[in-house]
Amino acid sequence: MMNKLVIANWKMNGRQAMATELVAGIIRNLPEASVDVAIAPPFPYLSQVAEAISAAATVSLAAQDVSRYVADGAYTGEVNAGMLADLACKYVLVGHSERRQYFAESAEVLRAKLDACVSAGLVPVYCVGETLAERESGVYEAVIAEQLSVLKGIGAELVVAYEPVWAIGTGRVASLEQIDQMHQFIAQTLLQYEMASDSIRVLYGGSVKPDNAREIMGLASVSGALVGGASLNVDGFQQICWAANKTV
Ligand code: PGA
Repeated sequence: MMNKLVIANWKMNGRQAMATELVAGIIRNLPEASVDVAIAPPFPYLSQVAEAISAAATVSLAAQDVSRYVADGAYTGEVNAGMLADLACKYVLVGHSERRQYFAESAEVLRAKLDACVSAGLVPVYCVGETLAERESGVYEAVIAEQLSVLKGIGAELVVAYEPVWAIGTGRVASLEQIDQMHQFIAQTLLQYEMASDSIRVLYGGSVKPDNAREIMGLASVSGALVGGASLNVDGFQQICWAANKTV
């Protein structure tokens, strides 16, 4: 069985001093080898965090985004997959709902980003999730199936993160039944798309906190968590990692 994976998504938060303090605190007391942890700081702090986690064998570096353009060149403001690989990044978030919403990332752009990750040997963490209106009108499975269809034909290691938009940063967590149902639906859909779902970890994200992490990650269909707000606190994030450890 694969280890659970817990990813800290710092989003656009922090400064150098905070990054140093947070990482030092997190790696001081982590479950030994039974949980995989990754930290996704803002781009300017990637090398600093890479350095800080270099002695922690189970902690990897993640990026929050990547350019759709693969080759170096005149793309002002972009960071390509080769640069992330050069910094020893392992994972890259692709299609986070905040990117879909604020940067209008289309299926075509997301597919280009996924391919860019794979060609550089990075593991994409592809995020899917429905809005509250989509949940309430009952079309949520169709929305997720459509978002997952972007993955068709990708044969490399992959992580999917199910993050209902209405649960992100709201404190409103999906119920265990809703999470389990959707994770099973994702596994079935990946099979329909001829992707081996047993080799794809499906994380849950959306208001994961120390007090709900254990029951969420205790679901057999959940292979870990993508943590936003609670990852900015050393104790809180450590408790979530330990909760993942207890579910193994
Ligand atoms: P949250 O964010 O934990 O603050 O809800 C999760 C995410 O957006 O990845």
